[in-house]
This record gives sequence, structure tokens and C-alpha cells, in this order.
Amino acid sequence: MTRNAFITGGNSGIGKEMARALAGQGYRVIIASRDLAKSQAAVDDIKTIQPTAEIEAMALDLGDFDDIDRFAPELLAKMPVIDVFMMNSGLYANPLRKLPNGFEAMIGIMHFGHFRLTRHILGAIKAASQGRIVVTSSVGHNGGKIDESSFKDPSMHWHPFFGYAQAKLANLLFTRELARRLAGTNVTVNAFHPGAVTTGIWAEMPGWHQKIIGLFLIDAIKGADTAVWLATSAEGGRYSGEYFVRRKLKSGSGISRDEALAARLWELSEQAM
Ligand SMILES: NC(=O)c1ccc[n+]([C@@H]2O[C@H](COP(=O)([O-])OP(=O)(O)OC[C@H]3O[C@@H](n4cnc5c(N)ncnc54)[C@H](OP(=O)(O)O)[C@@H]3O)[C@@H](O)[C@H]2O)c1
Repeated sequence: MTRNAFITGGNSGIGKEMARALAGQGYRVIIASRDLAKSQAAVDDIKTIQPTAEIEAMALDLGDFDDIDRFAPELLAKMPVIDVFMMNSGLYANPLRKLPNGFEAMIGIMHFGHFRLTRHILGAIKAASQGRIVVTSSVGHNGGKIDESSFKDPSMHWHPFFGYAQAKLANLLFTRELARRLAGTNVTVNAFHPGAVTTGIWAEMPGWHQKIIGLFLIDAIKGADTAVWLATSAEGGRYSGEYFVRRKLKSGSGISRDEALAARLWELSEQAM
């Protein structure tokens, strides 16, 4: 039986390699990002190498709640059962950008947008025989803390490094709280750090930072490896609420294991919907 995979941010970088790998394993794949032409080019590129790949692109802006609400039923009409959900879209926004819904762009897209989308599609993931959610977090979460006031009203001391680290910490806290809420169901959710990967995400980082990081970058195929392993392997299916680097279980930061904070973030996220 064909299994279905849905990937946010599947038109470039790590997400595109997730799509390529899952299509290569016989999954029917839908990728969703804002730039539909770029997404179609990614689909065409994957099909050039894998002509039998079942993969298609849809347009989605996670920075726009109305667009998420429009998108979700269209996705579910095409994919009523979702075996794998790769929650992967992301960005490093410098300078500070606000979304029309009032959120700072990084927390707004990576956390709140994905939170709203997940609410829409969780039923379809539960309908799978063993639904798996894989969240692209980052080792950068270690530098993060949750500052509720910065979600919509960043102070003059706000820095994009802080905003990125906070959003990736939010991804990990979401993973842990969602796992707690899904305990006893057939759905698992885990997060991972892909490594420092050569993708477009660095474009708005300071030049000196890009130069240092550039010495250590790995390619996007390696960056996607842990996610694909979590999504498809028997071993990856044994965990939930955990954080992985290079297929190895890691504890994550102390803050990422703060259950009260994870519950608080969930409550705030519900209120924001
Ligand atoms: N590269 C690294 O070293 C690294 C390290 C740790 C974690 N990560 C994480 O890995 C994930 C993937 O990033 P990447 O490195 O592969 O960078 P990338 O190539 O720039 O990919 C980012 C993806 O997110 C999508 N996206 C951005 N804003 C969006 C929005 N508003 N709505 C929907 N999709 C949106 C982009 O598509 P559109 O522009 O078409 O919307 C693109 O497909 C991110 O969550 C990032 O934080 C990356």
C-alpha cells in the first residue's frame, strides 16, 4: 500500500532532499512552500532522476493564518491519510520582520504557522497506521529562551540570533508537548538537528557568520538523513518526544525539557489561534 508524506519547505535545501529520499522509497509526496514555481522546479528535478516518483507541489504561506486555513482542506482532499509529516519550513529573518498577523516572522512561521497547520491535519496523521511527525529544530535552540513579549512586540534589544534560537526552541518544546498529548495513540513526533547545511537559510546572516559556518557546512542530503531515518526506520518509530542529532538521541537544552514551559507555550499557541 502506498504511504503518504507531506513536507513543508520541500522546494529547497533539506526539505527537498527529504522529498527526494521519501519519493525514492515509494512514498507519495506533497511538498508545500510559498514559491510554487520553485516547488514545481523541485518536483521536475526529482522526477528527472526518478521518473516514477509520485510527487506534487502545493502553495502555502505559513506566515498567513488565512492561507493555512485555505490550504489545509485542499491538502486533505488530496491526502486524507498522512503517514509522514515533515514540519520543516524555516527562515532566518534579518532584519526584524513582522507578519500581517502581528507575529515576528521567525516565531510566527516556524512555530505559530506550523501549530495552526498541525491542528488542521492531525486527524489525517492519526488515520495512518503509524503516523510520524518529524520536526526540523536546530542545535541553535541551545541559545534560545522563550520571551512571550517578543512574539509580537520584540524589544529594541531583540536580535535575529535570539529570534531564530527562540523559534527552534519552540519547535522542540512543541515536539515534547505534542508527544505527551499523543501518548497512547499511533502517532509519534520527534525533532532533529540537521547539522550546519549548505542551503539558502544563511542568506540573511551576517557575512562573518556565513564565512565561519561555511567552513563546516555539510550537504543537504546529509542534512535530511536523520529526518528520513526518523520517518521511515523501525528504530525511528520507537521514540516520541525526543531530539536527535546524526541519528543519535540527545537530551537537548535544559529549557527544552521544561514541561511546564512546553505546556505554557501550547496554551499561548491555542490562544493565538
Ligand atoms: N541549513 C542549516 O544549516 C540548518 C540548521 C539547523 C536547522 N535548519 C532548519 O532546516 C529547515 C529547512 O531549512 P533549509 O536550511 O533547508 O533552508 P532553505 O533551503 O532556505 O529552506 C527553507 C524552506 O522553508 C520554506 N519557507 C520559508 N518561509 C515559508 C513560509 N512563510 N511558508 C511556507 N514555507 C516557507 C521555503 O520555501 P519558500 O521560500 O518557497 O516559501 C523553503 O522551502 C528550517 O526549519 C531551518 O531552520 C537548517
